[in-house]
Amino acid sequence: MKLFLDTANVEEIRAAAEWGILDGVTTNPSLVAKEGRDFMEVLREITAIVDGPISAEVVSTKASDMVTEGRKLAKVHKNIYVKVPMTTEGLKATKILSGEGTRVNMTLVFSSLQALLAAKVGAAYVSPFIGRLDDIGQTGMEIIEEISTIYQNYSFKTEILVASIRHPIHVKEAALLGADIATMPFSVLEKLPRHSLTDIGLDRFLKDWAKLPKK
Ligand code: E4P
Repeated sequence: MKLFLDTANVEEIRAAAEWGILDGVTTNPSLVAKEGRDFMEVLREITAIVDGPISAEVVSTKASDMVTEGRKLAKVHKNIYVKVPMTTEGLKATKILSGEGTRVNMTLVFSSLQALLAAKVGAAYVSPFIGRLDDIGQTGMEIIEEISTIYQNYSFKTEILVASIRHPIHVKEAALLGADIATMPFSVLEKLPRHSLTDIGLDRFLKDWAKLPKK
């Protein structure tokens, strides 16, 4: 499973990239707004840090405008995936952009039927928002299983990008279900290598080592 960071913060991206486990980055308008910086400038910086898929989202709502915006974003770097929202206008725009060879990440997906439509218009990625479904009392991970079955039934090539991840259990469940990608905030990614027994074990090894007579 590929691991992506869901952030527009270049410091976080730089730190995770150094660990050698970062495969890509997803951003969204809220994450970009949080940084308070020029979007194109941030995007260029990210492409210089990570050699992998980087999602940049359109903010237009009409298909023709989404296409214009998507083309502009795609020109920034060969690794850019254009994020398009799951609306009927978004479907139209995705069909056009995918047809031109632009890789589209269909976002704001909350049902397996929406994911079916994303695949039909040629989206490269589909982003089901697990955490936001959990927030309203629905088990988000259930739709990952459904999407996976639907995609297998029809041999769709669209990759499942599990989004809106809130904690490491979401990451584990996504991996157990065979999702292609999980995108998560830095606060979740940094928890993945940690285990209290690793810390205790290392501490003991180092203390024992220190007891060796020094020459
Ligand atoms: C996906 O690409 C989105 O940016 C993201 O995962 C949304 O997560 P949130 O529900 O934590 O805002």
